[in-house]
Amino acid sequence: MTRRATLRGVGHYLPARVVENSEIETMVDTTDEWIKTRSGIERRHFAAEGELTSDLAVHAATAALKDAGLDASDIDALIVATSTPDQTFPSVATVVQGKLGTAGFAFDVQAVCAGFVYAMSTANAFITSGQAQRVLVIGAETFSRIMNWDDRTTCVLFGDGAGAVVLEGTDGAGTSADAGILSTDLNSDGNFGDLLYVNGGVSSTQTTGVLVMQGKEVFRHAVEKLAKTAETALEKADLTPDDVDWIVPHQANSRIITRTAQKMGVAMDRVVMTVQDHGNTSAASIPLALSVAKSEGKFTQGQLLVMEAIGGGLAWGAVVLRL
Ligand code: UT7
Repeated sequence: MTRRATLRGVGHYLPARVVENSEIETMVDTTDEWIKTRSGIERRHFAAEGELTSDLAVHAATAALKDAGLDASDIDALIVATSTPDQTFPSVATVVQGKLGTAGFAFDVQAVCAGFVYAMSTANAFITSGQAQRVLVIGAETFSRIMNWDDRTTCVLFGDGAGAVVLEGTDGAGTSADAGILSTDLNSDGNFGDLLYVNGGVSSTQTTGVLVMQGKEVFRHAVEKLAKTAETALEKADLTPDDVDWIVPHQANSRIITRTAQKMGVAMDRVVMTVQDHGNTSAASIPLALSVAKSEGKFTQGQLLVMEAIGGGLAWGAVVLRL
């Protein structure tokens, strides 16, 4: 028997305010046409003043618990993937724990846009090693708070939101037919830190800073690295792209999503695409896409999902999960 982390519930939350490209046109020197053609983004959500990352996370987690048919007290570990915490500390995870009343321990994972993949891999390790039985994994971000509104190359791309999943330990046969996380693949290369970063911080400037990105370079790395990490994760589970029912990719750019699917030989009708409605919500983007796709009835039990993401660090990786 092999311990597996199976997906028991999914949920998401988007702030009420929808910002269409036409509104962005009034804020910076850009056009709906440019944003749509270059990134696929049509609209994004922005958190209201005073609405915090932890608030978004609590809403998404509540929806995931409901979907799982569980109470907060059933959770024994809580992990939040975020790069936009309410405060420097405590962690968003402990804030959420305080608001929801989950049992056990809680902590944040920071791997920027790859954060959810890193958090899922961490949760998987806790479950398969017997250190936790039910883990709430949340991706939550308020990237609108770290935009430079004088930089049209970045500020048109990002949005706010949260998604959450409940993972539960179950016994599998140890084959690729098992339900649950079958493999993960994590990578990072600190030599590329200057391609995507925030130009402030506690230890350096004592300010929050704003996002800075060399978009073209990040694009190049994304196209090169995402298909590779997805295929490596599949290989670890003795699977190939032909076995994949759904790619649930990080939602940064529809062109990156399409090229990655093409490289893997996976048809676009097997790729979840939500970037048009959410923009890039960093660590929240995969669980948001997962939850939206589930609520649209896209998934059936037993299907094979691959999640893949890349972001600042650079950090990238993939998770293979059977429903
Ligand atoms: O989530 C973390 C990972 N992040 C990503 O994956 C993002 C990766 N990068 C990208 O998605 C793309 O590189 C962008 C969407 C950021 C940019 O697309 P691009 O095709 O690489 O455009 P570009 O940067 O080469 O810019 C093309 C032109 C430039 O004008 P010139 O030099 O050709 O005259 C820019 O000045 O578009 C201009 N431009 C804009 N025009 C209108 C740049 N931003 C804008 C804008 N509106 N907002």
